[in-house]
Amino acid sequence: MDLKELKSGLENAHSHEQRVEEIAQFFGSHSLVFGHGTDSAGGEAYWLVRHLQHWNADHWTSPPTHDHIDEILEIAHLRVTERRPLAYLLGRTWFAGLEFNIDRRALIPRSPMAEIIERGFAPWISVGKGNRVLDIGTGSGCLAVSAAHYCPGILVEATDVSPDALELAEENVKKHGFEDYISLIQSDLFDAVCEKYDVIISNPPYVPRARLASLPAEYIEEPAVALDGGSSGLNVVNRILRDADGFLRPGGMLFMEVGEIAQAFSRAHPKLPLTWLEFERGGEGVFMLTREELTGYFRG
Ligand SMILES: C[S@@+](CC[C@H](N)C(=O)[O-])C[C@H]1O[C@@H](n2cnc3c(N)ncnc32)[C@H](O)[C@@H]1O
Repeated sequence: MDLKELKSGLENAHSHEQRVEEIAQFFGSHSLVFGHGTDSAGGEAYWLVRHLQHWNADHWTSPPTHDHIDEILEIAHLRVTERRPLAYLLGRTWFAGLEFNIDRRALIPRSPMAEIIERGFAPWISVGKGNRVLDIGTGSGCLAVSAAHYCPGILVEATDVSPDALELAEENVKKHGFEDYISLIQSDLFDAVCEKYDVIISNPPYVPRARLASLPAEYIEEPAVALDGGSSGLNVVNRILRDADGFLRPGGMLFMEVGEIAQAFSRAHPKLPLTWLEFERGGEGVFMLTREELTGYFRG
């Protein structure tokens, strides 16, 4: 399906559902890769239409006008020719039910950890007013902002090595009004951190370097520092693991995503008492460890 056919399909559609189907067909005929907030052509098409309608319910139910056709065509053209993820083209994305600014300064939020944060870390640990959470490698700030949103009153420190990512995270902290609750710190992992925390969360870079070059074009749009986990993928993961207990309070917990290298990670640490988390909305490769388990493993 080419752009001309999409244009005519959009002009002739009698409902927004039909428009979504036309866009989905266009995306579906261009070998795109999905996975930056949706997992299908239909999901992306719906997102595009609803975004242009500012997620307004009345716009969705009223008959389509020609209003957004040019914008749809322009974005759809860039999506298929440049293979840029839709979130970057729109400058906005959603995570844990919250809207975030997003651009190439940071990875597009998609961690399954959203589910744990939405539950306020239950049933693993109860956190509330005055508890401290550390987010290592905050990127857009999505985990930090969601934690502050779903656990009212907690204090979050969020680190990143990337000044660009921290700039974007600052925009998101302000967007959600958490300036008094979230501190952003430029730091190589724990280097510039001195508190003790009840919870440490991290979605660090964990893609094995050799895999980076073979990732679909959509992923190559993302900052390499957000993906590159060194030769085995485990470089940053292992550094966090080794030092985390020194930054946790007694009873504190580390939640870390290792995604597709979960098996390699388990093989590298066969005696580590990992608890792998399960997710209702899909996703895997997130484990949990207590401070005491970490200390027992590394210093026992
Ligand atoms: C996979 S992204 C995760 C971003 C965000 N937390 C999320 O879940 O969408 C990893 C982040 O870790 C940051 N990072 C990489 N190496 C780091 C290091 N040594 N210290 C701190 N942050 C680091 C990257 O800049 C990137 O923002």
